[in-house]
Amino acid sequence: MLSTMYQKTLLSAELDRRASANIPEVCLMKISFAEPDLPRSGAVVVGAWEGKVLTSAARRLDEATGGAITRALSAASRFTGKKEELLPVVGPPNLTVNRIVLAGLGKPKEIDTRALQRLGGKLLAHLNEAGEVEATFAIEVGAEAPIGETEAAAELAFGAQLRSYRFDKYKTKQKPEQKPSLARLTVSVNDAAAAGRAFQPRDKTAEAVFFTRDLVSEPANVIYPQTLAAGAEALAALGVDVEVLDECKMGELGMNALLAVGQGSVRPPRVVVMQWHGADGSESTKNRAPIAFVGKGVTFDTGGISIKPAAGMADMKWDMAGSAVVIGLMRLLASRNARVNAVGVVGLVENMPSGTAQRPGDIVTSMSGQTIEVLNTDAEGRLVLADALWYCQDRFKPRLMIDLATLTGAVIVALGHHRAGLFSSNDELADRLIAAGKAVDEQVWRLPLANSYDREIDSDAADVKNIASGRAGGSIIGAQFLKRFVNDVPWAHLDIAGTAWSTKDAPTVPKGATAFGVRLLDRFVSQYYEGD
Ligand code: BES
Ligand code: MN
Ligand code: ZN
Repeated sequence: MLSTMYQKTLLSAELDRRASANIPEVCLMKISFAEPDLPRSGAVVVGAWEGKVLTSAARRLDEATGGAITRALSAASRFTGKKEELLPVVGPPNLTVNRIVLAGLGKPKEIDTRALQRLGGKLLAHLNEAGEVEATFAIEVGAEAPIGETEAAAELAFGAQLRSYRFDKYKTKQKPEQKPSLARLTVSVNDAAAAGRAFQPRDKTAEAVFFTRDLVSEPANVIYPQTLAAGAEALAALGVDVEVLDECKMGELGMNALLAVGQGSVRPPRVVVMQWHGADGSESTKNRAPIAFVGKGVTFDTGGISIKPAAGMADMKWDMAGSAVVIGLMRLLASRNARVNAVGVVGLVENMPSGTAQRPGDIVTSMSGQTIEVLNTDAEGRLVLADALWYCQDRFKPRLMIDLATLTGAVIVALGHHRAGLFSSNDELADRLIAAGKAVDEQVWRLPLANSYDREIDSDAADVKNIASGRAGGSIIGAQFLKRFVNDVPWAHLDIAGTAWSTKDAPTVPKGATAFGVRLLDRFVSQYYEGD
């Protein structure tokens, strides 16, 4: 361990930067809703149904431009009006707008929440690419759509907003053309005031998603246990009770598995406990027990003495994504005043190799009393969660507990980047998570738990070992390990190693940190646990 003095200097320099690190990147695009009117400037987006059928706003615009849209349509062989097709009509005559974009809406019956969010996101990217500063969406959904026009307008705006996220605070030399151009987005809708109200909760969601994306995107020299804890402490302003446990407190509690992971780093570990008391008094005592969320917050995972190869190691700055999702979710529940009691517990450590680091073969006594043989110091997330899960269930007696962790590379082998791994011994809980995931397009896929896997982590020297003998079923092995630290409480584990970060732009998620889990769990809470 380095001297305390050195640590102090090191930390104060970092703490100076902390303030800016924890300010979420605000969305610079201004979103508003307005009653339909012929736009006078910027770009205007209108819709066409599959089979090149213009919506009524598109027809009106076509007339105003002396048939510019119809002409572009008949010339365009590739545009058929299918979902997510875009047809730019540049410089329409008789109008002062810069361009018209015709957006394919697909079949009238299929234009649902997901389709609208994706369309909003795609349009945002398209308009930024084109360098437009101002745009109006004049997209009507029609009577056959499974969503009303007010909600539809809010979803379009929400999709655009989610896609507008950027993490470019460290780019000091961006040329104007590299920056997003779109500054003002207006969504046309008959009842603009109602759409504005419908947008409010979505705006809060986007804020929490961006907050999480920022935390995940920040490098490990900026975000480490203390600064991440400071980020969580900011939630106090929203009425969340936040407690930060330092290593002394953790030692008293017997969190030796978590402490062992952090012992090789000069950055001391932290556990943050966030409580949101939103349930109203009328509910039964049972329902007042909180719903608990637990997050893996390894602010950097070198692997420790079982060190990782150099290639790709930088990715391990986002090994704290589980904790960032829990913090972002708690922020969202508080900001939208969710009628539920929820607790968030995050275990924050940096996994480093050093003279003080734990060694392969070390045996530690976890808070649960179970001893763990640490055969691979790179299987550290499960050690952190072992104590965080135990502490959470022991202290809060939650009605259910869900953990999120970038736990295994194996889940990427199994599911790629389009599904997170879901493990649960409770079918109802699993089904609810699957349904919530589908509703917000953050999908999860259930993988099994079974005693036969559990036997593979029996240790010769201790109660349990942190890896099995081979690589087979790596994500299930990780989940089985966690299960040993969970008693009877309904519990689910989400392995988000494949979904926390993306290397490709998706309609509502620009490449980089995704905040996968924030929207899913917010939906899970609102759909099943609020005010029940
Ligand atoms: N943080 C990693 C898992 C990970 C890998 C997340 C790649 C995202 C991308 C985790 O701590 C880890 O190192 N897991 C090991 C477990 C193994 C040693 C049993 C792994 O997946 O290789
Ligand atoms: Mn690891
Ligand atoms: Zn890790």
